[in-house]
Amino acid sequence: MTGVIVVGGGQAGFSVASTLRASGYDGPVTVLAAEPHPPYQRPPLSKKAHTGPVRVELVPESFYRDRDIDLRLGDEVTALDLTARTVLTRTGTRVPYDHLVLATGARNRPLPVPGAELPGVHALRSLDDALTIGRALTTARDVVVVGGGFIGLELARVALAGGARVTVVELAGQLLSRAVSAELEPSLRQRHERAGVRILTATAVRALEGEGRVERVVTEQGVLPADLVVYGIGAVPRDELARQAGLAVHDGVLVDEQLRSVTDPRVSAVGDCARHPHPRADGPVRLESVQNAVDQGALVARRITGSAAPYENLPWFWSDQGDVKLQIAGLRSPSDAVHLVPGDAPERLAAYAFRDALLVAVETLNWPAEHLAARRMLERRTPVSAADLAGTTLGALARAARTAEVRR
Ligand code: APR
Repeated sequence: MTGVIVVGGGQAGFSVASTLRASGYDGPVTVLAAEPHPPYQRPPLSKKAHTGPVRVELVPESFYRDRDIDLRLGDEVTALDLTARTVLTRTGTRVPYDHLVLATGARNRPLPVPGAELPGVHALRSLDDALTIGRALTTARDVVVVGGGFIGLELARVALAGGARVTVVELAGQLLSRAVSAELEPSLRQRHERAGVRILTATAVRALEGEGRVERVVTEQGVLPADLVVYGIGAVPRDELARQAGLAVHDGVLVDEQLRSVTDPRVSAVGDCARHPHPRADGPVRLESVQNAVDQGALVARRITGSAAPYENLPWFWSDQGDVKLQIAGLRSPSDAVHLVPGDAPERLAAYAFRDALLVAVETLNWPAEHLAARRMLERRTPVSAADLAGTTLGALARAARTAEVRR
């Protein structure tokens, strides 16, 4: 038995390997990870400043030994041979497989402007990046954040908390345009501005300049002084191994509803690198989230051990940006109708998105209970209409339903 090879040691790859063992798989399980660190959580990296040792590993190293998971760190996979069913690593090792799982994740989009390579300009993805940025933040006075998405806004608030002057430069007309509705965004923006972040939207960066290191950011709206620039302008899937091997790829490895490559059923793809059909989306989607990585990894492991099921899990996301907790349940599309609903305390706000008059997604600010109620209702596919929610909230509806249940 040649076993399962997982390419990628992130949260998705870890989920595949750990679920294989939890489901009773007794063949060889090999995880080939390019980074030198055992699998770790990425979400904390952008939510506080890291200057010293960071404890983000998912499990202690004994976990792998105890479960006979062969975790090989720091040896990148360079080629897949789908005919011979082997993968080749940079050190020249060739490893055979029965089933191959691609969990290669995504990489940051490079900043496409002159000066992006200057010292003092950083992007955040890995633990090592987080340590570099954390150290730079201890002395930075003027921080410019390019990109007002998840990474940008989280880091902006980390830099602000550290005492720096912070400007976010966002190309789109609103913050978080990929994830958050135009209806909710003004409140989110206002909270960051009130806290002291300067925000420029609809603003392109033309160049980064400085003598020997970055000193200023030239934007369409003027020149900003900067001794540290961090950028988070989106991610692209690491699907080149699949493409070079001849697997169908289109902004992500194309997989079916059970996350098998549409080209070769012995190959699966999970997490940020996979583009998959989803019952809650019109066409194949590629989702970048911990929930998606963990759930997809587990689904593939269970399929390999004999319980096949289509991937239908409810997508959800979160982001902690200083005193702003953003949570999203479900998938919204631009044509959905969005209603804003104030919460039961001033800092709480929800946006309900309806498609064909039924609730499909909920965005909340600082309102975890409402997010959880949304997740439960959307997961159960309880139909909720705009009329059901007139003058009330999901949390209140859920409480009323529970009371009715008890009375019955
Ligand atoms: N200049 C300024 N802003 C830009 C530019 C540019 N040249 N190009 C894109 N942007 C903006 C987008 O409009 C968007 O608001 O950058 C933002 C990118 O936001 P995200 O798509 O959320 O990506 P990012 O913040 O980089 O996060 C990358 O980390 O937390 C995870 O789920 C997240 O996987 C994602 C990854």
